[in-house]
Amino acid sequence: MAGGGVVSGPSGKHYEGHVTLFVALACIVAASGGLIFGYDIGISGGVTSMKSFQRKFFPRLLNAHDRNTYCRFDDQVVQIFTSSLYLAGLISTFFAMWTTSHWGRRPSMLIGGIAFLVGSVLNAAAVNLAMLVIGRIALGVGVGFGNQAVPLYLSEMAPAKLRGALNIMFQLATTIGILAANLINYGTEKVDWGWRLSLGLAAVPAGILTLGGMFLPETPNSLIERSRHDEGKHMLEKIRGTPNIGPEFDDIVEASNAAKAIQNPLGNLFKRQYRPQLTIAVLVPFFQQVTGINAIMFYAPVLFQTIGFGSDASLYSAVITGAVNVVATLVSIGTVDRWGRKILFYEGGIQMFVCQIAIAVILKFKLPLAIGSELSKGWAAVVVVLICVYVAAFAWSWGPLGWLVPSEVFPLEIRSAAQSITVGTNFLFTFVIGQAFLTMLCHFRWGIFLFFGGWVFIMTLFVFFFLPETKNVPIEEMVYVWKAHWFWKRFIGDEVYSSYPTDVEKHNNAKL
Ligand code: BGC
Repeated sequence: MAGGGVVSGPSGKHYEGHVTLFVALACIVAASGGLIFGYDIGISGGVTSMKSFQRKFFPRLLNAHDRNTYCRFDDQVVQIFTSSLYLAGLISTFFAMWTTSHWGRRPSMLIGGIAFLVGSVLNAAAVNLAMLVIGRIALGVGVGFGNQAVPLYLSEMAPAKLRGALNIMFQLATTIGILAANLINYGTEKVDWGWRLSLGLAAVPAGILTLGGMFLPETPNSLIERSRHDEGKHMLEKIRGTPNIGPEFDDIVEASNAAKAIQNPLGNLFKRQYRPQLTIAVLVPFFQQVTGINAIMFYAPVLFQTIGFGSDASLYSAVITGAVNVVATLVSIGTVDRWGRKILFYEGGIQMFVCQIAIAVILKFKLPLAIGSELSKGWAAVVVVLICVYVAAFAWSWGPLGWLVPSEVFPLEIRSAAQSITVGTNFLFTFVIGQAFLTMLCHFRWGIFLFFGGWVFIMTLFVFFFLPETKNVPIEEMVYVWKAHWFWKRFIGDEVYSSYPTDVEKHNNAKL
């Protein structure tokens, strides 16, 4: 297969490697892991807006004509259906942390794939609300294990030069999964049992992930981490397609020894010298969620019905926002290493802010509260366009960068723990938004868009003052970036400064 090459590590060592069949298979796993994550994000809102589904599980929604426009869908149980997945995901990520390092990446992917399969079967066959919610929880276990193990699997299988690209590919697959869910909902809405098909089709990528977990090779890093050095070396030769893997093998052994030497990785993270990284590990995923993106991703069809669209037009509009999300992610892939992260954060932040304020103003003055009232066709179209422009801004800024930036600022000795904090914080606030949005919409009305807009304003200031540019900065040199930063420099002691970059840190760069 094409695409071979030699990559120089930061320490000047050369890593040889080709894009072998194994790497191609790893891409397929990445795609199925991302697809299923996105599919679960996109499927619930559309299904919730289907009349046949409401009749079966939430009949109250059909009779919600006694409420004002903004409160039609305010229902705790509807929100539990959507958000229970992320609570389950949050808890299982911490179990996955253990299985991934003690048993390997493959078993975690297998557990994730099987949980997804169980969840999609339970959801497709649901005869009552309990089956529906238990199915969502099983899917959540799948997301917890999948999102923990798949990105790690990828970064370890890929040759060094492909690691960054594969990181964003996971996000691209997520957006494709959301779009697939929107399209499928649009098709199945016409059939009475269509919601069963929508929920059941999650089994397709789940099946691929399960097969991947059964038949793909384990990563060399995982074998070495579990003291199976010979097997690890053999595997590295196989996946790189060359016997000349000496420097990379030595670095993996060295990194694995260093990681083993850390007794309490989570506690380590709370040391003063890691304050910048800890702040980023928590604030970046928090900010990503309070952009309000999942209010749109989860509830776009419901939101479009709120402003007066029919069921069909709402699902159709959700397809449009889903497509914008995919295309705009490609823009990010093409520009992030040329223009840098901060430019994308600024541009995306300003664009999201302007759209949110405009939507709030239109809804305030043009959407009457009275039962059954709706926006005029013209204003409704303007709102859809503004939502698309907002989604595009998210998709080339906080969408991919919300995952990429944390992953490139953690040094090896705190990486695993910090990454779990990032994933956990992301799921926690995904859960909170999923659980609270429809109630917030009911109480804040148009002001909900000002609420999210206010957060976007704050996070854009945060980027300006507190986030250093990480474009083209090798990880082992990141400490110099903190050291030069007007605020963070006070946390980096001189002893840390002089001890960097260590060989372990140099290896770290090659790992990304
Ligand atoms: C976020 C998800 C969001 C998705 C939208 C991801 O980066 O973590 O919460 O639904 O982007 O594309």
